[in-house]
Amino acid sequence: MDHFHYRNRVLHCEDVAVPQLAETYGTPLYVYSQKTLLHHLGQLQKAFAAAQPLICYSIKTNGNIHIARLMADHGAGFDVTSAGELFRALKAGGVGPKMVFAGAGKTDSEMRFGLETNVLMFNVESEGELLALADVAKSMGKVVQVALRVNPDLPPKTHAKTDTSVKGVKFGLDIDTVLEFAQKMAGHPHVKIAGLHMHLGSPILSAQPYQLGMEKGVVLIEKLRKQGHDIRYINMGGGFGIHYRKQEALPAEAFAAVIVPVVKHLGCQLILEPGRFIVGNAGILVSRVIYNKDSGGKHFVIQDAAMNDLIRPTLYDSFHRVWPVAPAAGFAAPPEDYEADMPSTIKCDVVGPVCESGDFLAKDRRLPPIERGDLLATFSAGAYGMAMSSNYNGRPRAAEVLVDGVGSRLIRRRETFKDLIRPEIEVPK
Ligand code: LLP
Repeated sequence: MDHFHYRNRVLHCEDVAVPQLAETYGTPLYVYSQKTLLHHLGQLQKAFAAAQPLICYSIKTNGNIHIARLMADHGAGFDVTSAGELFRALKAGGVGPKMVFAGAGKTDSEMRFGLETNVLMFNVESEGELLALADVAKSMGKVVQVALRVNPDLPPKTHAKTDTSVKGVKFGLDIDTVLEFAQKMAGHPHVKIAGLHMHLGSPILSAQPYQLGMEKGVVLIEKLRKQGHDIRYINMGGGFGIHYRKQEALPAEAFAAVIVPVVKHLGCQLILEPGRFIVGNAGILVSRVIYNKDSGGKHFVIQDAAMNDLIRPTLYDSFHRVWPVAPAAGFAAPPEDYEADMPSTIKCDVVGPVCESGDFLAKDRRLPPIERGDLLATFSAGAYGMAMSSNYNGRPRAAEVLVDGVGSRLIRRRETFKDLIRPEIEVPK
């Protein structure tokens, strides 16, 4: 469920007309709906309530401080993957004891920062990392609490570039050898192994991988406890899918149904690290059409958002719904199925101005007739959109606006040309 809807053939975010936002703030523009963000966080809180979870918003998904602050204000902690994200989470009002520190390659200085901040725990991904962390903790006279992140070796479940729980990816400790290592760490004076962590991949549209992961988790936790580790936390990561094509995502309850009973059986505290589920459907990317062009038997709609603004289609062949903000008469509502054959539409590639053939937002997509100057909305762009944006081709990053009811506020200004060169050391004259 989201709060983007067409009223009298004009797209609105909550009670604000999107053309008005484009007029005020320019394009390309990320528009977020506060109601949608909070609705999705609330859905998770409600669905998992019986396990009293610590929900650590995965700040990599969309790190805007205003969005992160909303999360903190509504009870979420943070999943951070770097010192930079930890810095950001603190600026957004996050507190260490409600944070988990992830990442496959934490440096000593990042570990130190995490320990100084008193993060609840580090999710540890390799033997070398835990040994380094133990040294850092020792040098600071601390005992570090950790969760062992295991790779549960499950069947493929999502795009190969974002599937993290199949054999042969860099993530997690090998499930076949993790116990041997854990045994060696038992009784370590500076390390407390208190949790088990898994992040299965993202996005996941079925509850089955979580069920399989939990089954393996139970076995591991029982064995770790036998080794003398006081395992009190199970962290199932993020990965819950959202609606990209139509209404394909599962409700939070479907995931809770396979996770909560096992957590209760284990007597553990549940930690979750959702990102996309909260912010994905809460954001759109608004762009303006610059040209229409026919070439090589194809029709191209060239608009002012590009792969530097939203790289997901280029990187993962991801499908994002695209539709005019104010479609021509006869297209009163957007289709339920964007992949169906639609009368009076034109098959288009929606592309940007960047100098790469891989620069597109949508391919072979049916759209109503579109004219130069029209606005387009690319939906479900709130997660890994702005977060993965760049300045490629000398393009200042887009602005971001947060809508709440009838109000809107700029939460990140559009970058300027000066911003593009600011960090480069000035050449002496
Ligand atoms: N926890 C860990 C350890 C993760 O690696 C991730 C995402 C999450 C939590 C949050 O997952 P979520 O709830 O958002 O699915 N750029 C890709 C997705 C990469 C996911 C990276 N890790 C995309 O645009 O699809």
